[in-house]
Amino acid sequence: MPRPLGWIGAVLIQVSFVAVIYSQSAPFNSSRIEGWKLAQDLIKESATRKGIPKFVAWETAREIFPCSDHSSAAVRVVSKNNLLDESFHYSPEAAARMCEPLAPNTGAVPLDAAQALWEKSEPKPSTTTLRFPNGAHLAAAFWNAVRRPANPQNGKIVQMAIRSQNEVRARRIRITLPKSLPKESGCDPPASQGDPAAADATDVSLEEFFWVRLNPGERYNGASCGDFAVLMAFHLVHKVQGRWLWTTFWWDPESQEFGGDRPKDFGGAGTAPRAWRSYVMDASFESTATIFNPWRIEERQDNCARCHAEITLYKSPTSDSQIDFDSVTAARNHFQ
Ligand code: HEC
Repeated sequence: MPRPLGWIGAVLIQVSFVAVIYSQSAPFNSSRIEGWKLAQDLIKESATRKGIPKFVAWETAREIFPCSDHSSAAVRVVSKNNLLDESFHYSPEAAARMCEPLAPNTGAVPLDAAQALWEKSEPKPSTTTLRFPNGAHLAAAFWNAVRRPANPQNGKIVQMAIRSQNEVRARRIRITLPKSLPKESGCDPPASQGDPAAADATDVSLEEFFWVRLNPGERYNGASCGDFAVLMAFHLVHKVQGRWLWTTFWWDPESQEFGGDRPKDFGGAGTAPRAWRSYVMDASFESTATIFNPWRIEERQDNCARCHAEITLYKSPTSDSQIDFDSVTAARNHFQ
């Protein structure tokens, strides 16, 4: 029979062992858990567009700016016809901040008209950091155009970019169209032959992705009416308790490393809600860790927060003053 002290000792050792493991992995896991949770809400169908996730239905910079001309007919045409026209989208909270005054003491002049005023004012407003509120989100969606093949047996061969740790790997697949797709109406017959089956490319059904079908009049990267835009990768960036949580997703149903902790019921907009479970994720609050999306060639091996902090800083040409645009590229680009 073990002595009581032996039991207590063993329990204490186990408790402290668990505590060590937990404290080592907790910061990493908490950003991933939060990343999946926030994404789950934003991939749900939007209230305004059937079959389209919330983050794709949000406004683009072309619809937000100029701030003074927000309700023009031109804007409504852009948003209705060109879903894929631009890939960066801003949640309503983010979009609202992008048209508020730059700083409390720059009067009522909105961000996109404040530069001349700011440059002229002496001393320059001390509150020069533009902050986005908690609950603001930024998004980017990266699509691949898949044209309907004239021969329904054919598909489109795509060189996938995937990740293993910090290495980028390539995998060849052929995206094929399921027979169950409804026939499109009002479109010309398919003009593209498509790719026949290839020994080095695994067939994957369109249904394994989130996709949208182009309507009459819509165009995207060589695709038009009746063709498809297939979601390969996306970024979702969230303001949480004063900090940006950077998350990025790409299609890879096989990676346990980046998808093993995905919630079991993860799903979203479209005819196949489960297709969202084919995407894996990298997430971080930090500006030093390596976090990147393998599809983003110019961002590989890098860190979102590091690069954004750099590119969104505005330095006055006439003085030492500068403005930090809180990591939002569009805010910096449209400061005029
Ligand atoms: C090497 C620099 C660099 C890195 C690294 C980088 N980005 Fe960006 N990002 C940019 C630039 C430049 C733009 C604007 C591009 C344009 O306007 O065409 C941008 C735009 C964006 C936007 C559109 C919203 C906006 O106005 O800022 C989002 C969202 C975004 N990036 C998320 C991410 C995420 C998430 C990561 C990390 C996985 C990341 N970025 C890594 C340079 C970078």
